[in-house]
Amino acid sequence: MKAAFDELLTQIDTILAKEENPLQAICTLLNTAVSYYNWVGFYVMDHDRSMLTLGPYAGAATEHTEIPFGRGICGQVAAKGETMLVQDVHAESNYLACSIETKSEIVLPIYKNEHLVAQLDIDSHVLNAFTNEDQLFLETVCEKVAHLM
Ligand code: SME
Repeated sequence: MKAAFDELLTQIDTILAKEENPLQAICTLLNTAVSYYNWVGFYVMDHDRSMLTLGPYAGAATEHTEIPFGRGICGQVAAKGETMLVQDVHAESNYLACSIETKSEIVLPIYKNEHLVAQLDIDSHVLNAFTNEDQLFLETVCEKVAHLM
């Protein structure tokens, strides 16, 4: 893993140990520390309503505060339970635009006790922004925050 990602994981451990609102602090950290993470947020799964609801986030306000399972990239991750890495959002037909500036996006499922409970969503203004290293790093972030969901 990139040294910068290792350092961020250390900072996330500190946030988890000390911050009152760690999910918000982690969004802000990722959004400010990684130049191409232009919107960072958590969506929480509401299985009773088959709906995702927006939790803490950092970046521009979005109209997508609730997303039905199956709709958009987040909704597809809700349905499939697997990470989706979309290197060009304009090539993805089932996509909900949050910002006209967004060019690529990664959405990772968060599992707690083997149940899909939430997602981490990151939008980038850069085309093809996310590498395998980003994915591995973000999977680790998801594991670290799962107990808070
Ligand atoms: N683009 C997402 C919607 C959420 S926004 O990116 C914040 C999607 O297609 O599910």
